[in-house]
Amino acid sequence: MCHKHAENVARLENKGFYQEGSRILLRGPDPKGDKMESSPSATQPKPASPKPPDGMDSELSKLGNNLVTKFHVLMRISQIYDSKNVALNQFVQEFLDTINTLIKREGIFSLKIRKDDFFLNDQRLRYSVEGFTSFKYLLTQWKKRLIGEVIFKTLMEEEWLRYFIYTFINLEEGREENADLLVRQLTSHNITSVEVNPLEVIEGEEEAFTAQKEDEREVAKRIFFETVGTIKEVITNIKGKQHADVRKLKRLAQKAIHLVIEDESILLGMTMIKNYDEYTFNHSVNVSIYSLAIGKRLGFSKKTLTELGITALLHDIGKSKIPREVLNKPAALNDEEWEMMKRHPLMGVEVVLNLKQLGEINPRMVVGIFDHHLMPDLSGYPKLFRKKEVSLFGRIIQISDAYDAMTTPRIYKKIPYTPEQALALMLREKTSHFDPLLLKIFIGLVGVYPIGSLVLLNTREIGIVYKTNPESTWLDRPIVLLVDRDEEGHPKKELVDLTETDGGGSYKRSIVKTLDPYKYHIDIAKYFL
Ligand SMILES: [Fe+2]
Ligand SMILES: [Fe+2]
Repeated sequence: MCHKHAENVARLENKGFYQEGSRILLRGPDPKGDKMESSPSATQPKPASPKPPDGMDSELSKLGNNLVTKFHVLMRISQIYDSKNVALNQFVQEFLDTINTLIKREGIFSLKIRKDDFFLNDQRLRYSVEGFTSFKYLLTQWKKRLIGEVIFKTLMEEEWLRYFIYTFINLEEGREENADLLVRQLTSHNITSVEVNPLEVIEGEEEAFTAQKEDEREVAKRIFFETVGTIKEVITNIKGKQHADVRKLKRLAQKAIHLVIEDESILLGMTMIKNYDEYTFNHSVNVSIYSLAIGKRLGFSKKTLTELGITALLHDIGKSKIPREVLNKPAALNDEEWEMMKRHPLMGVEVVLNLKQLGEINPRMVVGIFDHHLMPDLSGYPKLFRKKEVSLFGRIIQISDAYDAMTTPRIYKKIPYTPEQALALMLREKTSHFDPLLLKIFIGLVGVYPIGSLVLLNTREIGIVYKTNPESTWLDRPIVLLVDRDEEGHPKKELVDLTETDGGGSYKRSIVKTLDPYKYHIDIAKYFL
């Protein structure tokens, strides 16, 4: 079977995958490996049942996101204009529409903070990159005022909403009786359809997560989403032939390096977010995270790490020149399209050489972009007329790229490979397709059971691999987050270290096998957010 044919079969049958670089059917990586899809929704995995048990009602979730965004916008605008200003009308109206749509659908609804999340009628709201700012803002503003829940009980009127927002923003920060006060003020205005409750302080919850780790996780999240947003901006600007700000990427890469040096597992966990929501640009960010973690293990200096980070972020920038129809084609690519696709490393070089801030780019970075599909045996692309060594940046990015591509759902392969399957496939091709030494480092990094794997333990508990143990002898004994449900049906979220032994010297828990998260309707990413 010729490569082209094999690849097309793979795309159509959704069976094999194929690494973008080689067109050699690995019975694994998807064909166009790391396409930058333009439509996030098209690539989201579809749950097998309408409502998974750990579940989301997607319409409610959409309305919830809308509610948070409108709430955020209105709060901001209210701080600029007084309550009578006409500039406010449109925003009040939009917020009102969202609230009343929810009332009509749900009868009554509550927006509540639990830890660092918003829950809409007990359903946790997930946010997209665009929604991130609104969520953060609202969370902070509510917490500052010690407000934990707002319940809307009947259809609202515009005037009530106006009064509510202004009373809300004028609450003094840190005052314990704020919720009561707000309710009293509303009642004095004959508004009885809104109930407000104070922020609940949950003590002793999830002790395994220390406060410090939570902080680091917050920082990591912020950097992750900011970088996804920035790479999106850069790509959009390049498409529109506008000036792209590479310096911003550099600053973000430097922040990420700081985190990677401190504790790489937190950022590695972030790569799990790719499975849903804003997804178009995470690939570049994920490739960058993996590459930085490899670079750290290779002992790179901060300067070299920064260069590697930016190169990885820009590795597929050439795809900004490929039409969306080709990138998002759900079926097989024809010859012409495939030829076009294979030009993206070269087009990437062209793009970066044309950047205004060329001073931020050095030859090593340009070569890295050019090399990222070459492969050690030069069987990839672009085709070379003379033998050359694939650059170190190119070889690092290639491994990160293949792994992320394989473990991410695509439009032509909705259910991706599990981390374990992906590593197995990469190992099979290690000599021809990957630098064996770097691959070994990469496996050391993600573990035998890579971060994000769903595993069954011999105690019959189910968990998610959360962190690898630093000792190389314990690659198969990671730290696992238990996701079984307690009596009340909430996930336990308990972190257990598989190196722990009982009194008799036997391990308390061991991994029996990995499970397919799609079969169990477990949203892995949720546990890393
Ligand atoms: Fe890629
Ligand atoms: Fe690529």
